[in-house]
Amino acid sequence: MSEIKDIVKKLEQILTETESKREVEDLFNSSRELMSAYRCAIMEIETKFNVLNDYFSLQHERNPIETITSRLKSPESIKEKLIRRGYPISLESIENNLFDIAGVRVICSFIDDIYMLADCLLAQDDITLIEKKDYIKNPKPNGYRSLHLIIEVPIFLQNTKKKVKVEVQLRTIAMEFWAKLEHRLRYKKHLDEKTINYTSDELLECANLCSTLDTKMQNIRNIIEK
Ligand code: GTP
Ligand code: MG
Repeated sequence: MSEIKDIVKKLEQILTETESKREVEDLFNSSRELMSAYRCAIMEIETKFNVLNDYFSLQHERNPIETITSRLKSPESIKEKLIRRGYPISLESIENNLFDIAGVRVICSFIDDIYMLADCLLAQDDITLIEKKDYIKNPKPNGYRSLHLIIEVPIFLQNTKKKVKVEVQLRTIAMEFWAKLEHRLRYKKHLDEKTINYTSDELLECANLCSTLDTKMQNIRNIIEK
């Protein structure tokens, strides 16, 4: 009798293990699908910008885009951000709460190109604007400048269409130069308060110099192209 009980217990244990194994597998497959959707959305947006760049260069004999880079947020960063913001850890929560899993950065030659490209992208009928943050017109207190867009783009899979959110950052070469170096310097955290204050002021001044440079370059172009 006790032997049968043992066998039943063992069977139950195997079933539960199989069940949870299946759950883990399902979760793994769904997360792979979700990440693939974000990768596809990045490709869609990159292509849209490449098309605009190509078309514009035919019309005006110059490229408004210097470079396009993109990144997919790593699983560690995703988990860290969900915890930091107090969101549940689930695929649904990632889709509903984090809008920067897919990121595309467009480095432009001139400030006007940023707005021209953003307008062209947003005018496309498959693109939905979710949020716009203009850190060029309203720079961050530390001097950070860029135009941020959260957009939604449909991607077409085997039998379905899925809307995916992408964070697009548009900035000039000078803004990129500043942001890259500021980001690197920010991670050196062993500084005392006096040094932090001094370097923050200096970085703000550098951001303003970059902005002056952008305005001057834009003015030169306006004169030449008039
Ligand atoms: P997070 O996405 O959690 O950072 O906050 P948020 O949604 O309020 O983001 P925001 O739109 O202000 O900025 C998002 C991204 O812009 C960051 O991940 C950076 O890539 C860039 N960024 C924003 N502020 C700064 C800054 O002060 N310095 C640099 N180098 N990059 C910045
Ligand atoms: Mg963000």
